[in-house]
Amino acid sequence: AEQNRELKERLLQLKKEKNAIILAHYYQRDEIQEVADFRGDSFLLAQKAASTDADVIVFCGVHFMGESAKILAPNKIVLIPDERAGCPMADMVNVDGLRALKKKHPNATVVTYINSSADVKAETDICCTSANALKVVNSVATEEVIWVPDKNLGDYVSKNTDKKMIIWEGYCNTHDMLTVKDVEEMRAQYPNAQFVVHPECRPEVVKLGDFVGSTTAIIDYCKKSDCQEFIVGTEDGTGYQLRLDSPNKQFHFATKYLVCPNMKVNNLKKVVRCLETMQPQIYVAPHVAEQAKLSLERMLQVK
Ligand code: 13P
Ligand code: SF4
Repeated sequence: AEQNRELKERLLQLKKEKNAIILAHYYQRDEIQEVADFRGDSFLLAQKAASTDADVIVFCGVHFMGESAKILAPNKIVLIPDERAGCPMADMVNVDGLRALKKKHPNATVVTYINSSADVKAETDICCTSANALKVVNSVATEEVIWVPDKNLGDYVSKNTDKKMIIWEGYCNTHDMLTVKDVEEMRAQYPNAQFVVHPECRPEVVKLGDFVGSTTAIIDYCKKSDCQEFIVGTEDGTGYQLRLDSPNKQFHFATKYLVCPNMKVNNLKKVVRCLETMQPQIYVAPHVAEQAKLSLERMLQVK
């Protein structure tokens, strides 16, 4: 506790010195969410990165998030607490694979989940997050859509749109682990609870949801709902904001395995250290960044 207090004081001082802002995804450790200037899901964080007037962004999340921030705000320094915090789903699609698919479906619009590399975004027409996926898919001009890389979110969107979707086979290791059996066992244990679920979960699990949505959508839903008890089908870090918003409600995570190990690579000590050393910084090659930026900006413009 004493060490944490010192770290927090040091952080406040460094933030002021460098005119830095700390952005944290809801899946970060509590000790990071506590000191963040802004918490959000992928969409809100991208929006914030694009609009902040800080000189330095400390992005606490996984690598693609920091990269997207740098693409949207190329004149700012973007620091990440640990370079090794990647997203396995983002690594499931590469440029060669996407190019081959584009060749096969030349009339399709490429919609890419923000969980992807800058290189893949540069080959993309428009990005989306779980918060706006359906809106983005419905907004494109073509009937055919190439969708990369999340097959589960892709399946969810395809069931709610008239577009013809060509869906890549990627998935999130963490959300994809949740099974129907897990949810049924929790329902038996907590019969009065509603099941709220992230669309990165398997289709048969998503189908069981009383509410389906992005991390922010789940948090908003639980806050506004009259229900007092929830079984939560998304990453464990979300508990921080859920409990902050509704201290008297009960939240049961659907399994103890809903923990993204990559998100947890970051800790408070590393946040302080990266501001101290101004390392590691995100760098994106200018020709890639320029192309990738278009796909992210198009996303931010979808109403
Ligand atoms: P959202 O932030 O859009 O809810 O996505 C979840 C996720 O897995 C981010 O890596
Ligand atoms: Fe990637 Fe899943 Fe972790 Fe999000 S929760 S960073 S999608 S592995």
